[in-house]
Amino acid sequence: MSAGKSKARRIARVALPVIGAAVVLAGVLTWRANDASADDVADGTTAMQALPAPDPASVARGRAVAIAADCSACHTRPGGGAAFAGGYPLETPFGTIMSSNITPDRANGIGNWTEHDFFKAVRHGQSPDHFLYPAMPYTAYVQISDEDMHDLWAYIRSLKPVSAVPERTDLPFPFNLRILVSGWNLLFFDNAPFQTDASHDAAWNRGRYLTDALAHCGTCHTSKNFLGADRSHHYLAGGTLSGWHAPDLTGSAQTGLASWSEQDLISYLQTGSNDHAVAAGPMAEAVEHSTQKMPAADLGAIAGYLKSLPAHSDNAAPKALAASDPVMQQGALTYHTQCSACHTPKGQGIAGMATHLADNAAVRAEDPTSLIHAVLMGAKAARTDANPTGAGMPSFGWRLSDEEVAAALTHVRNTNGNAAAPVTANQVASLRKSLDAREAR
Ligand code: HEC
Ligand code: HEC
Ligand code: HEC
Repeated sequence: MSAGKSKARRIARVALPVIGAAVVLAGVLTWRANDASADDVADGTTAMQALPAPDPASVARGRAVAIAADCSACHTRPGGGAAFAGGYPLETPFGTIMSSNITPDRANGIGNWTEHDFFKAVRHGQSPDHFLYPAMPYTAYVQISDEDMHDLWAYIRSLKPVSAVPERTDLPFPFNLRILVSGWNLLFFDNAPFQTDASHDAAWNRGRYLTDALAHCGTCHTSKNFLGADRSHHYLAGGTLSGWHAPDLTGSAQTGLASWSEQDLISYLQTGSNDHAVAAGPMAEAVEHSTQKMPAADLGAIAGYLKSLPAHSDNAAPKALAASDPVMQQGALTYHTQCSACHTPKGQGIAGMATHLADNAAVRAEDPTSLIHAVLMGAKAARTDANPTGAGMPSFGWRLSDEEVAAALTHVRNTNGNAAAPVTANQVASLRKSLDAREAR
């Protein structure tokens, strides 16, 4: 090894920790400088529990804010935990992060917090004790308005204190060092309030506010870089998380919402399904807990805003694989024996129940993770007031081999108006492994 190279290595070895430390320090300093950032807080010194009871009108408005922001879904332990008492495990590429108890309990909740503490945690990701991981979507909530924050605070104060202690978050080194989040914030967190765009009307701005700030649609629908931050040039163009793909929501013809009307979007968000799609997985949860309970005018605003987004990709459809292709033939056989009873031979499905697979942008998604997931594990549609039974797709993971699943989906992606890259047996095998699905045969 040349002397020059080893010297470069030595410098790198010294330089990396120094650069790392400098980024963290700069992060902390910027944070402190931003601390007074436009937080219009009425009372920064009195703890929640010592304040007079909140105004009921404000509590009611705050409840609507909490629904649109889906606070309870993430802050409630699945399988019957008390609402807002924490313990929902969020799977991230860095390990499992446990959500906190945010009820007004003094010992284990946030009962000793002031309104200022609450604003800082929700909008800027900093609790009185430490930096929060961005699994808590403060990167979106930073855009929540002061009015909505005051109402949200009133609502949280009105909750019954629950003394539950969620399991501790225990990430592996170095992610257990919360101070590193300050460096992450410096690099990736745009600590800026929502800006109204005067070139658009009030409904459009409301739609963008709901999409970006409250309902944080981009936390799933925008893809992430290797440190878990939004790839901003891919805004709402599709992202993959915990074994599901959240599709492109822009106007892309091949993979996006080009063929959806505003009414299609409203029906999907309100009932969990429409003539194109039936929400599964994390989207079924978002519909159940949040969007179905939002006012129709707000759903209309989101729909109008999404339909105004230009296509992220102008990729033309590839040429569909020929029906004579051996994989297509194998896939057609599996489809017609296993799938067509529900999805119909021509892929029309059953409105509001089994997904319409023909000419469906999500079926053509570049990343077929959701399709493989549904076939291997089955899927449960959202249970909503409009559709209380919530149809189910059975799991085929135990019945079909990786090759059979890949061929069936390749067939679905290349018939009845669809054309997309084949699904490979390797893709199925790797998702099967990560989902711990039962081995076929
Ligand atoms: C996508 C899931 C998710 C959503 C949605 C969410 N949170 Fe969180 N929240 C978390 C997680 C995870 C933590 C813990 C983060 C950590 O330990 O660093 C957290 C932490 C917090 C904390 C800090 C508590 C403490 O003791 O440090 C507060 C306050 C909070 N959330 C309030 C809210 C409110 C209010 C909403 C709705 C506006 C909300 N959260 C929505 C996941 C979520
Ligand atoms: C927790 C993650 C998550 C959040 C938050 C989320 N989505 Fe989704 N969304 C998904 C996933 C995953 C799918 C795919 C569901 C499936 O395969 O059935 C999806 C599917 C969709 C679809 C269907 C697209 C198609 O082509 O079939 C629409 C429309 C949609 N989401 C809109 C939204 C909007 C609007 C918001 C914010 C109000 C939102 N989503 C918030 C994860 C999420
Ligand atoms: C018993 C009826 C039934 C059968 C059989 C069935 N499905 Fe489904 N399928 C459904 C229902 C219901 C949904 C909607 C479930 C949801 O979205 O939660 C669905 C959804 C889907 C989706 C969309 C998943 C998503 O991301 O939203 C795909 C792709 C799919 N099925 C493919 C198949 C294939 C391939 C087969 C055969 C191997 C098959 N289905 C067999 C009922 C069925």
